[in-house]
Parts: sequence; structure tokens; C-alpha cells
Amino acid sequence: MSYSNMHKASIAPMMQYTDMHDRYLLRLISKKVFLYTEMVTTGAILYGKCFHQLEFNKEEHPVAIQLGGSDVDDLVKSAKIAEDYGYDEINLNVGCPSDRVQKGRFGACLMLEPDHVAECLNAMQTNVKVPVTIKCRLGVDHHEDYEFLYNFVNIVQNAGIKHFIIHARNGILKGLSPRQNRHIPPLKYDYVYQLKKDFPNLNITINGGIKTIDECKEHLKYVDGVMIGRAAYENPFLIKDIDTELYGIESNVNSKKSILNQYLDYVEDKLQEGHDLSRMMKHLFGLSRGDKFAKTFRIKILEVIKKESLGQHRKELEDLLIY
Ligand SMILES: Cc1cc2nc3c(=O)[nH]c(=O)nc-3n(C[C@H](O)[C@H](O)[C@H](O)COP(=O)(O)O)c2cc1C
Repeated sequence: MSYSNMHKASIAPMMQYTDMHDRYLLRLISKKVFLYTEMVTTGAILYGKCFHQLEFNKEEHPVAIQLGGSDVDDLVKSAKIAEDYGYDEINLNVGCPSDRVQKGRFGACLMLEPDHVAECLNAMQTNVKVPVTIKCRLGVDHHEDYEFLYNFVNIVQNAGIKHFIIHARNGILKGLSPRQNRHIPPLKYDYVYQLKKDFPNLNITINGGIKTIDECKEHLKYVDGVMIGRAAYENPFLIKDIDTELYGIESNVNSKKSILNQYLDYVEDKLQEGHDLSRMMKHLFGLSRGDKFAKTFRIKILEVIKKESLGQHRKELEDLLIY
């Protein structure tokens, strides 16, 4: 399968959400969707004791790690470690607008330093064999014109980077929280479509506000890939049709109950390895989305988390899903 075909649909990196357990759940539902980790900082990899942040299940492939950082050497070292761990792609976060991240001079504020971003990515790509990619915004603060984005992408692509994931809104560095930065700056899909026209050889993935498979299909008329974040977390079963509708392959997923059971088998195994029950169970909240007993299902999950035991609740949870 070609590179762009593999990246037709992906799940957005989301801190506290797309951990290894959530990714396992999503992989049960779609065999094809491309997965991304939460952002992992170079500091955590090189100087922290956070090696568990690099852990993933072999079933997750294809899976990319997203790095946060801006020091060339640290990014190169982290990229090499991630490659040795077996990740299929290394992505650099140039889109996070949080204060903490700005203080570390990484995330969205790096859009103001395209030459430095190009240097980082080039050094990373020279040192690893897997593809190095970037996830960025349209611009930051008052830089709202298309030329800003064009100039940024032009400089970075000259450094040899071929795949850009664009969250189709600006990042506001001062005055908006990360949460507000995900819905207040307006979405400008036309900028991303124009980018694909101006750089037809680049692989362009569009992200931001995509909620349905039909919307994915519409975007795919103009760009190479779609990336879905919140909608897939809030309703993981949404991605059920990705394999058939976007990749044209058979999907053997037909019921939420079977996904639940496979995931709970996984949870039981991981509990033996010392993983935290609440971290694993919380990803199930969205599975009952739209169902008659959705609220009761969520309350039952909270009960399991509170009691710190899955035990006899497995069957009760299954019975609360309608199919
Ligand atoms: C809880 C949460 C955490 C996020 N963490 C990250 C992150 O670690 N790295 C990143 O590039 N974007 C992060 N994002 C932004 C998403 O990747 C995505 O760009 C954004 O949510 C827009 O896509 P959506 O409308 O499909 O959710 C996060 C978003 C949410 C909701």
C-alpha cells in the first residue's frame, strides 16, 4: 500500500486520551486507521523516568509517535530511541499552544521559526529510516494570511519533509487556553486545499472539526488524508466504517458488544501487568454513544473504576449495549 493510502485516515494525537490503551481499543474497531501517540516530550524521553510513555502494543501498528521539543540534538536522540522501539513514523508537534509548551520553546510557537523547524526535522530524518512528519497549525496569532502558511511549508519541505498534517485553524499563543484554541479560531479548510494545489507532491492531511465519514470523503477530494480527534474519542464506533468506506476493505466489526469483550479481555491481561484500571476503563465511556442505555453504561464504568474491580460487572456492561 502506498504511503498516502496508508495515511488516508488517522486519529489525532491527544494528551491524556490517545494512550496505548485507547489506541488498542481503536485498533479493534479499525484495522487500517493510522494511530498517533499523545505528545511525548524529548525531556520525558531523555531525562525523565517516563519510558512507559513509549510503550505500545504490537497490535497498534501502524502507529506514529508524536514528539514535543525544539533542541536539535534532543530531537535526534529521541527520534532514534522511538525508531528502535518500533514506531512506524516520527511526528513533530508544531501545533500545541499551551503556556508550558511555549516556555519550552516548542509546539505552535515554532511556526514563527520555520528555519529552525526545518533544521530539526532534517536532522531527525537524516538519522532515522522511518518517515519524519509534522503536525502544525495554519499560523499563529495575527499571522492569518495564506502566505504565512505557504512560506512555512515551503521552507520545511525544502528540508526534505514530505508529509504535513495541518490543524486547519490558527493557534493563539496569548489569551486563549489550549481548549479554547481548539474551537475559537475559525477553521479554514480552503487554506489546506490550496496547499495541496501549490505543493502537489506533498502528502497533506487535514485536521480539525471532522465528525463524520461523509465529511472525510468530501475532504479527500482535495487532500490526501483526514485526521479525526475528538469525534473519534467521544464516539469510537464512528471509525467502524473507515476500513470499508475509505480503504475499500472488508471490516469484520459488527457489534459493540464484541468490541467491548475483546477490550475487556485486554484490560484483564493488562491488570496482571500492573496497568491502572481507571486509565483503561475511561476510554470505554464513548462506546455506548447514541445507545438507549448510554448514561447507565457510563455510570457502570464509574462504578467499576470506584470499586477498582471489573469482576462480575463484565456481563452487566455487555447487557447495557444494544448490539
Ligand atoms: C484532549 C486533547 C489533547 C490534545 N493533545 C494533543 C497533542 O498531544 N498533540 C497534538 O498535536 N495535538 C493535540 N490535540 C489537538 C488534536 O490533535 C487535534 O488537532 C484537535 O483536537 C482538532 O481536531 P478535532 O477537531 O478532530 O478534535 C489535543 C486535543 C485534545 C482534545
